[in-house]
Amino acid sequence: MQFFIDTANLDEIKEAQDMGVLDGVTTNPSLMAKEHIQGPEAIMAHYKTICDLVNQNVSAEVIATDYEGMIKEGTALARIDDKIVVKVPMIKDGIRAIKYFSSRGIRTNCTLVFSTGQAILAAKAGASYVSPFIGRLDDIAHDGMGLIAQIAHIYKTFDFSTQVLAASIRHTMHLIQCAEEGADVVTAPFKVIDGLFNHPLTDIGLTRFLSDFQKAQEGVQEEKNNQTIKEVADAE
Ligand code: G3P
Repeated sequence: MQFFIDTANLDEIKEAQDMGVLDGVTTNPSLMAKEHIQGPEAIMAHYKTICDLVNQNVSAEVIATDYEGMIKEGTALARIDDKIVVKVPMIKDGIRAIKYFSSRGIRTNCTLVFSTGQAILAAKAGASYVSPFIGRLDDIAHDGMGLIAQIAHIYKTFDFSTQVLAASIRHTMHLIQCAEEGADVVTAPFKVIDGLFNHPLTDIGLTRFLSDFQKAQEGVQEEKNNQTIKEVADAE
């Protein structure tokens, strides 16, 4: 199972990369806007900076929604770096564009997937990744996790090479359940990845280990002091 971080924030990417558990980055136009990255040149430069920070796999989303526009933009994005995966929306022209890119060896991530039927289309077109949005489904009282399970089952049954990339992750249990349901990749905000570290028993256990170690050190020191006192007394 792979971990991607869902952000365009460089500090978060660096921190997650430094943890040593990061396999990639996903971004989208909203996340880029949140970092105030505006205009095609700034966006391309930001993608390059992200690629230089991580070992592999940076999803960069096209803005165009027509076939020719997506091909042009996706081709330019793919030229930035070998790590780029072109993120294409789940629309008819998007599926055609995915077919175009996959036949040319350019990796793709089919985004804004909310149904199993859409995931089948993405796999048929040769998408490298399909991104079902769990949180946004849960928000409208639909079963996000059920979607992950169904897609994973169908891909396995028919041996599709498309990987299930669970997106729109809101909390740590989402991430754990996605792993249970067979998602190949989970992309999560920094706070969700960071949240996996937390357990009060880890904190309590570590405090106890350190305090026992300290007590033992003090005991050794006391024994040494007593020995010195005895040696001095014996000499007198
Ligand atoms: O990258 C797309 C996705 O993860 C969006 O998440 O929280 O805006 O639904 P969210």
